[in-house]
Amino acid sequence: MSYISMPSTDLLGEQIATVLAEPTTTHGLARTLRAAAKELVLHRYHHASQRAWPSGRIDEKPARVQIGGGAHLADGYYNIDLVPPADLLWDIREGIPLHDGTVNLIFSEHFLEHIDYPRSAKNYVREAHRVLAPGGRIITGVPDAGFVLNQYPGPLREADEMISRWYSKRDCLGDINTYLDLVNLLFRDQDDDLRYTPHLWAYDHEKLVQIFTEAGFTTVEPWTFDPALANPKRRWGSVYVIATK
Ligand SMILES: C[S@@+](CC[C@H](N)C(=O)[O-])C[C@H]1O[C@@H](n2cnc3c(N)ncnc32)[C@H](O)[C@@H]1O
Repeated sequence: MSYISMPSTDLLGEQIATVLAEPTTTHGLARTLRAAAKELVLHRYHHASQRAWPSGRIDEKPARVQIGGGAHLADGYYNIDLVPPADLLWDIREGIPLHDGTVNLIFSEHFLEHIDYPRSAKNYVREAHRVLAPGGRIITGVPDAGFVLNQYPGPLREADEMISRWYSKRDCLGDINTYLDLVNLLFRDQDDDLRYTPHLWAYDHEKLVQIFTEAGFTTVEPWTFDPALANPKRRWGSVYVIATK
């Protein structure tokens, strides 16, 4: 057996920091390296949890789970996210670390569009199906691509509400110059801001129905927004479905 020598992630992090500090490093390389440095941080969080649960399954068997809730922790739910303050820091692109058929309800909003499609998105939906008990349900909300695209082509001034609700506090505000810029943000929002994970895929109602049906869910229906569970700021411009195993 041959082994390829790989630098440790710590060494790689130091090397990236050194190259980033070089004034001659080009914008293109720096942009890529900053994204790699961010993945290294996420990799460290994930591997700390993986060391605690080497089988890839945690001992707990929570009945209600929120995935990708960020700072919006759901009461009575076990919160899994890449970064604090979740109950478990886990990279969902590596699967869901829960036992088969043990969960009654999964809640997730404004998460799915942040993982790569098809590999991670389809794997996540299959994993959700695996961990849910028979009759278990998963509620999923995403920015509604249908809503944004339905207004194209159109004048930017008619999108005032979208801009004020979604981008008024963002650095990108001054660079939203035509309606197509809003369409672009649907597909790659936050690509300019390393504090967040960017949008990698866009979804509408039809796509949500398709992806959950393909994974074996028996029904996929619209979910009526409930601000007691969902983040109230997601009500406007989002599409939600509830899929049953
Ligand atoms: C836009 S925030 C949404 C937070 C919250 N659901 C809300 O609506 O306010 C996306 C969340 O998904 C999490 N996330 C992105 N990729 C992830 C991954 N691969 N594994 C776990 N969580 C992830 C991020 O850390 C972040 O907390």
